[in-house]
Parts: sequence; C-alpha cells; structure tokens
Amino acid sequence: MSGAATEGKSITCVAAVAYEAGKPLTVEEITVEAPRAHEVRIKIEYTAVCHTDAYTLSGVDPEGAFPSILGHEGAGIVESVGEGVTNVKPGDHVIALYTAECQKCKFCKSGKTNLCSSVRATQGKGVMPDGTSRFKNQKGEELKHFMGCSTFSQYTVVADVSVVAVDPSAPLESICLLGCGVTTGYGAATKTANVQKGDTVAVFGAGTVGLSVIQGAKVRGASRIILVDINDQKRKYGNEFGATDFINPKSDLKDGQTIVEKLIEMTDGGLDYTFDCTGNTKVMRDALEACHKGWGTSVIIGVAAAEEEISTRPFQLVTGRVWKGSAFGGIKGRSEMGGLIEDYKKGTLKVDEFITNERPFTEINKAFEDLHAGDCLRTVLDLKK
Ligand SMILES: NC(=O)c1ccc[n+]([C@@H]2O[C@H](COP(=O)([O-])OP(=O)(O)OC[C@H]3O[C@@H](n4cnc5c(N)ncnc54)[C@H](O)[C@@H]3O)[C@@H](O)[C@H]2O)c1
Ligand SMILES: [Zn+2]
Ligand SMILES: [Zn+2]
Repeated sequence: MSGAATEGKSITCVAAVAYEAGKPLTVEEITVEAPRAHEVRIKIEYTAVCHTDAYTLSGVDPEGAFPSILGHEGAGIVESVGEGVTNVKPGDHVIALYTAECQKCKFCKSGKTNLCSSVRATQGKGVMPDGTSRFKNQKGEELKHFMGCSTFSQYTVVADVSVVAVDPSAPLESICLLGCGVTTGYGAATKTANVQKGDTVAVFGAGTVGLSVIQGAKVRGASRIILVDINDQKRKYGNEFGATDFINPKSDLKDGQTIVEKLIEMTDGGLDYTFDCTGNTKVMRDALEACHKGWGTSVIIGVAAAEEEISTRPFQLVTGRVWKGSAFGGIKGRSEMGGLIEDYKKGTLKVDEFITNERPFTEINKAFEDLHAGDCLRTVLDLKK
C-alpha cells in the first residue's frame, strides 16, 4: 500500500491540545503538515493516557511546554513517509517510541543502555529534529510536539528513529500499551534487574508499571512476589498478575512496625529485588532499605517531581545493596518490540488485562479523571470515534 491521497499534503484532523498547565485539554481541529526527510506521519488509531501525560499537564514538569499535543502510548498505521525513510512504509502498523533507537549513536552502539541520544535535545524542546513543529491550530498558531510522539491527535509526525513497525495481526487497541507502561515494567524486571528463578521480589505501586514488573518477575520464576500499595482497590490485581502477597502499609502493619521491617521479616533478611513504581522518594528509600544485605538491588522506575532528591545512609550501599534506575524498561524499541509482540500473541505477556476503561477520543479529559479513580489501570481512547 502506498500513495495515500493525502501524501505530501497537510491533513486537517481532530486533536486534543494542551493550551495551559492545570487546564483540561481542548478537543479541536488542527493541521498536521506532511512529513519531511526522515519523518513519518502516522494515523493514530488508539492511545492510552499514562501518568507522565498527567504529570506534564499538571504543570509540575519544568520541561513541559505549552501549547502542545501530549500522548506517548499510541499505535496506528503509517499514512506517508518523508525522504530517506527505510524502516517503515505506508500501511505498516506501528507503535510510536518515546525512547528512540537510531542504532548509530554512542549510546545505541554501547550495548549498555537503551537511551539513544539522536533526537534527545529537540524532543525535550517539543520540536522535530530540524527544530520546527508539524502542528498548527486553526488560528495558525504553532503547537509543540511531546516526547517525540504526540499521540493525542488523529495524525502525528514522528522521527523515523522513533517508530517501529509491528506484526499487523496484533490488535492496535491492545498493543498501544506497549508504547510505555507495560513495556516499562516488564523490561525493568526481565532486563534491568534480570530477575532469575527463585529470586524474591517486592514491587511498590500496583499501577500498570508495577503490575507489569510483577508479570516479568513471574515469567522468570521468582519464588515470592510481594505487592505493596496504599490503595486497597488494587489488592485484587495482585493475584491476577502473579503476586504471592499484597501488603497495604496503611492497614497491614503491626503497631509501630515499618514497611521495611515487615518486608525484611517476611523474607528472612530482605529481598533480592525491589522496584519503585510510585514516583514517591520516601518509597524509593524504603524499597532500597528492604533489599537483602550483600546483594539486594532496588530499581527506581517512578518519576518524581523535578526538585525532589533521594536519600539513604551510605552504609546501605557499603553493605552491598545496589540502587539503579530504568527508563522504558531498558528496552530498545526498534530491535526488541517484535519480541514483546510475539510474547503477547503467545499469551506469555499480558496486555489486554491492563485495559480497564475504553472511551471515544473526544472523552479524553474523562480519561485523565479515570487515572485518579480507584481501580483504573489504563483507559484506551479510540481516535476513530
Ligand atoms: N521510568 C520510566 O520509563 C517510566 C515509564 C512510565 C511510567 N513511569 C512512572 O512510573 C510510575 C508508575 O506509573 P503507573 O502508570 O503505573 O502509575 P499509577 O498511578 O497507575 O500507579 C501508581 C500506584 O502507586 C500507588 N502508590 C502511591 N503512593 C504509594 C505509596 N506511598 N506506597 C505504595 N503505593 C503507592 C498508587 O496507589 C497506585 O496504585 C509513575 O511515577 C510514572 O510516571 C516511569
Ligand atoms: Zn508513560
Ligand atoms: Zn541512538
């Protein structure tokens, strides 16, 4: 398939524009320019709302630029490509990648990280790699891109290093979640931590990220997987995703007992691996200190407000605990997404189970409210509606 009637032309479509921090998004018509060299225009079919979108919209993210088109957990079909694009073609089913993979930079070639530097600077400024935007509103005002994806629009333009073609038999409605939360948690367990059979694991935060850490730990054969969350409505997800225990620190601790003491007591000295999936710096400390002396490793996944710092006593590290972090689960989007889709199709990677709410795109502001409601994991928005 090639030569869409829209190829080379601007497209007018519906998008949700973030004009101001702390205000609802405005659903309106915008214009999306044709992709330039090494750019890809995608017809987004489904997108979910992740915590990071809400974080930026709230205004606490100092890098958040307005007006902009948020969204980074999306999947769709390539409408057209600019000059020099060889990795995808019109008609391909694709997932947008906020962590690019150019396969050429120092980071990509290191074999040590999934952090690619190719579009980092411009992506952070909300523009395409050539320094300009492809989005305008009907008044002709320029709108910023977000995380190199901007999936809250029926059409978006991304850099070719920020998109991966996937097996077209996998439903876009589900695999949009592989654009962030599910991949982040699963990769943190299976790549960053590299959990092994018999290991003990504790996960703080039973959102999509935390529950996906749990499924990764389960796949690896962890002997005990303890889920910690202060929201009792999340208790039911523990069993479903493979946790062996659930602790609510607000109700399940003895008088005067801390969550760290409880976890150490339950695991004869502490855990092999712990994960922060809350973004709370106090929880990050607890997660580290609940690790076993000599080898326990704690992985920070949660995103904290910009001015926040973590702390612990150095003795915690001197005595062998390891503190590390993980972005997008350490997954290289272009070379490793295919494997995740295969796992999903085989049934070893849960994805559908994270979709707790579905809405037409026009109800996107309600999807932001869903995020804060009791047992919501992900709301998937249908951009065709
Ligand atoms: N590093 C990355 O690449 C990456 C990618 C995606 C998301 N994130 C971050 O990961 C975090 C989790 O994302 P999510 O989408 O799963 O969020 P979520 O809001 O759906 O889940 C967070 C969970 O943490 C629980 N929680 C809050 N405070 C707690 C506490 N003190 N103790 C125990 N549990 C507590 C909440 O009740 C909730 O269930 C967020 O900070 C998000 O910004 C990071
Ligand atoms: Zn995200
Ligand atoms: Zn790179």
